[in-house]
Amino acid sequence: IKVTFVQANGVEKTIENIAAGESMMEVGRFNGVEGILGDCGGSCACATCHVYVDAAWEARTGKPDEVETGTLDMAPDVQPNSRLCCQIRLRDELDGLRVTVAPSF
Ligand code: FES
Repeated sequence: IKVTFVQANGVEKTIENIAAGESMMEVGRFNGVEGILGDCGGSCACATCHVYVDAAWEARTGKPDEVETGTLDMAPDVQPNSRLCCQIRLRDELDGLRVTVAPSF
């Protein structure tokens, strides 16, 4: 599975050969994507893994659930396509996923 993060500085980071089941946040953090901090370790409590999902992928990543929506409320500049990427589990269907890192706190 391959994914792309567009960082706030405009530089894109593409990461390939990711196994299904990985969290998008862990992939970003492990690969040094700027602005993906994952302070809470992926438990949907910190909002430091906020991204905007590209329009082409929104239907496949889905909408945030109630817990995620509550945590997103803490983040600046929340948009209709905002997600906390620790809540996105990568699977074959998401091969090619592209997100933009949201502004940090
Ligand atoms: Fe904390 Fe995603 S890593 S909410």
